[in-house]
Amino acid sequence: MATDMMKAVIAEDGQPLTLGDFEKPMLNPGEVLVKVAASGLNRADLVQRRGAYPPPKGASPIMGLEISGTIVDTGEGVSRFKTGDRVAALLAGGGYAEYAAVDEGSLFPVPDGMDMVNAVCFPEALMTVWANVFDRVNLKSGEAFLCHGGTSGIGVMALQMARLAGASKIYATAGSEEKCTLAKELGADRAINYKTEDFETVIKEDGGVDVTLDMVGGDYIQKNISVSKPDGRIINIAYMNGFTAELNFAPVLMKRLTLAATTLRARPVDEKRRIRDAVEKDFWPHVVSGKIRPVLEQAFPVADAEDAQALMAKGGHSGKIVLVW
Ligand SMILES: NC(=O)c1ccc[n+]([C@@H]2O[C@H](COP(=O)([O-])OP(=O)(O)OC[C@H]3O[C@@H](n4cnc5c(N)ncnc54)[C@H](OP(=O)(O)O)[C@@H]3O)[C@@H](O)[C@H]2O)c1
Repeated sequence: MATDMMKAVIAEDGQPLTLGDFEKPMLNPGEVLVKVAASGLNRADLVQRRGAYPPPKGASPIMGLEISGTIVDTGEGVSRFKTGDRVAALLAGGGYAEYAAVDEGSLFPVPDGMDMVNAVCFPEALMTVWANVFDRVNLKSGEAFLCHGGTSGIGVMALQMARLAGASKIYATAGSEEKCTLAKELGADRAINYKTEDFETVIKEDGGVDVTLDMVGGDYIQKNISVSKPDGRIINIAYMNGFTAELNFAPVLMKRLTLAATTLRARPVDEKRRIRDAVEKDFWPHVVSGKIRPVLEQAFPVADAEDAQALMAKGGHSGKIVLVW
């Protein structure tokens, strides 16, 4: 194979994922080239694969939003990181590949002694939670927090971050007793099995929450409004159960609520650098000390990417599913 070629996971219409040949990415100013050791799966990859979440302009068409690996080349103007550094990184695409080009502002230094499979469990989830829960709706110490999908790739970080940020009471929803147990280990004071309990009833009886992180949408939108305290904030990062709902907005008005939603992927690199900087300052020291731990469901050899995505699609997992190169 020519040296400017690499292996990448190819998704052809209706076919199982396979490894194919792809051109190695070229470096733009400010980017580094990473030899990928591990690629993190995200639910967004499944949505991209079925054609509903195309990569933003300029991003690689290859799936994959986060990697860990070693820098093998640096582009013009790269100042902080150098060849040989072990890094974990957020990407707008291109993570299911042997090499990835990453803006320097989307990199984290992998702590000494941490392996690459554990390292890839952090970037997308930490940055998404910070950008939404802490930046956009400003969860503060002493406030009550609800995290839906408490054992999702996102949820396992959100619970740990909220606990470290001093949330007064943390609620999580999850789909089994086993997942509820894990949510409590990660910081939830009360884990609600949404298949057997109604979170609206439980949380209303308890007095409500200040901040809700939701990826479910649909009929959860009205219930999130219902469990919010006055001046409460609800942030959606997805609407897995539907973008539409018929809503009664009276409690939004009367309780002075904020409803918000954001995506991370298409934000400009400067904005991602701001988010990386904040995560690195506020939460990365807890990754280094082990107070925030990775939660790994399973690591698959990259040749088994199809099985890895099938596991995520089935939805039985907790935390991260990872591909190893
Ligand atoms: N906006 C952004 O910037 C952004 C960034 C990253 C991720 N996301 C989105 O965030 C979501 C989570 O991503 P991920 O990669 O962490 O996916 P994931 O690990 O597959 O998690 C999906 C979660 O949804 C939970 N869930 C499904 N139905 C539920 C319900 N009715 N009530 C409560 N929880 C329910 C599942 O819980 P059980 O397994 O327990 O049923 C599971 O934990 C995805 O939709 C993704 O697209 C958005």
